[in-house]
Amino acid sequence: MENKTIAIQYKSLKLAELSEGDQALIKKAEEIRDKAYAVYSDFYVGAALLLNCGDIVLGNNQENIAFPSSLCAERVAIFYCKANYPNSKINKIAITAKSIKEAYNEVVTPCGSCRQVISEYERNQNSPIEIILKGEKEVLVFKSINDLLPMSFETKVLG
Ligand code: THU
Repeated sequence: MENKTIAIQYKSLKLAELSEGDQALIKKAEEIRDKAYAVYSDFYVGAALLLNCGDIVLGNNQENIAFPSSLCAERVAIFYCKANYPNSKINKIAITAKSIKEAYNEVVTPCGSCRQVISEYERNQNSPIEIILKGEKEVLVFKSINDLLPMSFETKVLG
């Protein structure tokens, strides 16, 4: 028997410590967050993708009265991106959340389904997707989705 450990490294920064480009990407995520259709949860999430072609693609959470039909901000942005820019790579994704029920100043970390989707596109494009999670007090930066979804499902049998 052998005990094994997975170590994950990520950065915690103040907003002002980020590059101007990253701060601008976060601002776009905040702007689109505030336009989310989040009438059931009142939990507003925004995602901004920076592509290698320089374009920015935005998404926010879209809810539905049939709750499972809803979709997270990250997947709204990523699926739009892959539908419209099938050949572009995603360099970064900035994610931010706000609740109108109470002051929400924590970072929001993507759900398991969004991690899975990001993971497949990262694998396909052969380059890491940086994940920027913006809270009021700190910004967390992960170099790759592998750091949020280590040992993700992969098999040569299916594709
Ligand atoms: N949500 C996202 O859009 N992204 C996340 O990373 C976490 C959760 C949405 C789904 C739902 O509309 C609301 O937040 C509350 O769960």
